[in-house]
Amino acid sequence: MTIYLNGQYLPIEQATISVLDRGFIFGDGVYEVIPVYSRRAFRLEEHLQRLQHSLDGIRLANPHSVSEWTAIIVELIARNAPEDQYLYLHITRGAAKRDHAFPAPKVPPTVFVMSNPLLTPAPELLASGVCAVTAEDNRWLRCDIKAISLLPNVLLRQMAVDAGCAETVLIRPAVACENAFLTEGAASNIFVVKNGTLLAPMKDNLMLPGITYDVILEIAEAHGIVHQVRKITAAEVFAADELLLTSSTREVMAITHLDGKPVGAAKPGPMYNKIYQLYQEFKRDVMRAK
Ligand code: PDD
Repeated sequence: MTIYLNGQYLPIEQATISVLDRGFIFGDGVYEVIPVYSRRAFRLEEHLQRLQHSLDGIRLANPHSVSEWTAIIVELIARNAPEDQYLYLHITRGAAKRDHAFPAPKVPPTVFVMSNPLLTPAPELLASGVCAVTAEDNRWLRCDIKAISLLPNVLLRQMAVDAGCAETVLIRPAVACENAFLTEGAASNIFVVKNGTLLAPMKDNLMLPGITYDVILEIAEAHGIVHQVRKITAAEVFAADELLLTSSTREVMAITHLDGKPVGAAKPGPMYNKIYQLYQEFKRDVMRAK
């Protein structure tokens, strides 16, 4: 596997960084995950825009222009074998003497990009749906930044794995007169279906603005699927007819059991089936058109 590190393309075994790297010491950096289908990066512009948003959020200058990023990405895709890949972009505030405050502006950031084979979910899982658990969303108030400091997400996601499930659905607890509400998954966005309406949580500082989430809403708009983007209460999550999870690597999956109880009919429902099919068509059309 060939990776990109600070201007060089290298076999992954030869890639090294300083132990003083602020990514290592403080988790001080941001990342992106970009799916590649048939050697073409999916929604590259949108991913690079979100990367810019994350960098702005941590006050780190973007080390590359869009055309430089594009050149790195095109080159890395070409240097790796799989037709379908996922790219992991990782930028940290560089290596400096340990101090929480930012280092001098001359310290160069660390820029790392790797490619892995993209393994979309197995057909059996798509057919059966997956189970999920719920947990209190105990993360910080800037979940819109795709930060590499993912310890809360790691612990929350492990709760799902420990329960033999695929994801943890995160609920912000009730405060004052506001009900508990859905934010997202530990590593995905979550949609609720009720009475034929697709419900999506509003994008705000408490969730990652998913690129797949946007595609799903565009599909809903284009195909006349009734949908609403609004705050979704925890009660609505537990009373859902269907629950969907979305991410760049898992695309769209049906959650058919939540906390051990069936969701709706406990199998992928009509909304999931429709959206899954439209998502696959959308992907094919976009990739063909490029
Ligand atoms: N994560 N919310 C969180 C917390 C995520 O980590 C992800 C994806 C998403 C979905 O975003 P997108 O549709 O742009 O992939 C939402 C990636 C896949 C990861 O960390 O590996």
